[in-house]
Amino acid sequence: MFITDDIKYVGVNDHDIDLFEGQYDVPNGMAYNSYLICDEHTAVMDSVDARFAGQWLDNIRTALAGKSPDYLVVQHMEPDHSGSIHIFMEAFPCAKVVSSAKAFAMMAQFFGTDFVQRRVVVGEGDTLSLGSHTLTFVTAPMVHWPEVIVTYDSKDKVLFSADGFGKFGALDAQEDWACEARRYYIGIVGKYGSAVQTLLNKAAGLDIQTICPLHGPVLKENLGYYFNLYNIWSSYAVEEEGVVIAYTSIYGNTKKAVELLARQLEDKGVKVTVNDLARCDIHEAVEDAFRYSKLVLATTTYNGDVFPYMNTFLHHLTGRNYSNRTVAFMENGSWAPTAAKVMRAKLECCKNLTFADTTVRILSALNAESTAQLAALADELAR
Ligand code: FEO
Repeated sequence: MFITDDIKYVGVNDHDIDLFEGQYDVPNGMAYNSYLICDEHTAVMDSVDARFAGQWLDNIRTALAGKSPDYLVVQHMEPDHSGSIHIFMEAFPCAKVVSSAKAFAMMAQFFGTDFVQRRVVVGEGDTLSLGSHTLTFVTAPMVHWPEVIVTYDSKDKVLFSADGFGKFGALDAQEDWACEARRYYIGIVGKYGSAVQTLLNKAAGLDIQTICPLHGPVLKENLGYYFNLYNIWSSYAVEEEGVVIAYTSIYGNTKKAVELLARQLEDKGVKVTVNDLARCDIHEAVEDAFRYSKLVLATTTYNGDVFPYMNTFLHHLTGRNYSNRTVAFMENGSWAPTAAKVMRAKLECCKNLTFADTTVRILSALNAESTAQLAALADELAR
């Protein structure tokens, strides 16, 4: 597959994987992208997961048609991209590896060697000439690891963006970009919004016509759409007005209250998304919390804390700098309900949260008082 006249796709699709990074469901698999730049000198951009090393090397050999690659550019050392570096270096003994100093330190950790005789260390603004193509390296620490660089090819105006602008799903999956790119971004890079903002500012100074990420499709059209979403996500801004209700329910009483609240909100024209944290993909629920403007947390008091799935959910939110939203609480307990207080305390570290005036307190099951609180909360959230 040609990206431009000189740049070819040599990556692989992974339909064998169950959990990406050991925790994310990827029902449509995953792509590990790699690109070959053909010029006077040839450069391969990143490797792939080690399970696909053979297929990747075949792709490179086919694309090179008898030539040997001169460089392997390593932008990121997470094993989904770095897992085949040492296999490449054995297969092509004349090739050099180009990467950041921090990445070479990680190569020593992963492979027991940092290829000292065959390495080219690059940093911010360094360039590598391949002939007519000049690659400029831009450091992007914490997008998503500290060693990350991205690479700009000024001839074809291509940004090789490492994990940036990636998504879950193999390249043969027919699915919406934003849905799986958002879940990927919030889950994997979400904590590092300020690092992404720094990179976006650097990218604003470049004339970019094509983005070649390490996961997901190559982006060529309407790039402003993708940059705008990345700006929203990395600044923790609200993407859409709406209420997300994230709940746990043991015997169905909290669930009944959640369903009533959802109906009341919908009757008022509010967009509502409901997630049962014990049963949904929790990373979809986290994605929803970051997407919409308001969040209702409903759970039971449990062992003096909150129900475990809610605990996990809150941990995912705070770990990713959840902020700039309105949050409301619903608690249920049969003798000493404290879940609202506990949840609020867990969110104290979050910046710029507005807590709703109304808290719904259910004592075992809905009664007239808690039903009135639900109605008041629906009014407040719909305002
Ligand atoms: Fe796709 Fe952070 O590795």
